[in-house]
Amino acid sequence: MTEDSPEINSLTHVAIIMDGNGRWAKQQNKKTIFGHQEGAKTLQKIVEESVRQKIKFLTVYAFSSENWLRPKDEVESLMGLMRHMLKNEVKKLYKKNIKLKIIGDRSLLPKDLQDLIQKVEKKSENNDALTVIMAISYGAHQEILTAVKKVSEQVSKGHLQAKDITQDIFSDFLETKDIPDPDLLIRTSGEQRISNFLLWQCAYTEFYFTPVLWPDFNETEYQKAIETFYGRKRRFGLRE
Ligand code: FPP
Repeated sequence: MTEDSPEINSLTHVAIIMDGNGRWAKQQNKKTIFGHQEGAKTLQKIVEESVRQKIKFLTVYAFSSENWLRPKDEVESLMGLMRHMLKNEVKKLYKKNIKLKIIGDRSLLPKDLQDLIQKVEKKSENNDALTVIMAISYGAHQEILTAVKKVSEQVSKGHLQAKDITQDIFSDFLETKDIPDPDLLIRTSGEQRISNFLLWQCAYTEFYFTPVLWPDFNETEYQKAIETFYGRKRRFGLRE
């Protein structure tokens, strides 16, 4: 990099908090699940646009550990939607050379969904155009706590010394092992918070908030977020 060549940000990993499905449905006088169904269509568009933009990792917050507390029928509809996507939309994933990975506590999911996830992950594991990481039953506090427990176990077994634990070593105990940290995090619907999503991984991530509700988010809105990212100056805590 010479003094006068502009520094170009590289965009490898985008994370998205897909928010606003419920409000979108309410605006249309429809049930919440209708918003989630439209949200699922937006997700498909954004996955395809990510491939076009040559982004290598896309992590989406599909269901948080707190979402289990939503009304039973909404939780069941979301599980049904996931089931539908995993059964019917995955052919497109294979065709487009996309790998699917799920992070979160899958043990809480219905057994058939756990089996489906395992099948799709296995079948797509060698795809390398884009990795789509779906956070399902995911919470960052839980992820970090689980990692702390695993590291402690290594220490108590004598495989690791406490003084030798580095950030890199700790990262390897997270579910996002081998995945670079997000460069850009997008949250739709006007909310401006991180809501227990990728807390460790977003230490230096650029945030982009838009008032657009997730079902209305589209390729053009995504491109706007990407352009904004390229216009930002990232310093990673350094001076210039
Ligand atoms: C937040 O909107 C969105 C969710 C809790 C679910 C996101 C799910 C999808 C986009 C569907 C596609 C993905 C899968 C795997 C099913 P909200 O309901 O909190 O919106 P609100 O804040 O307006 O109520």
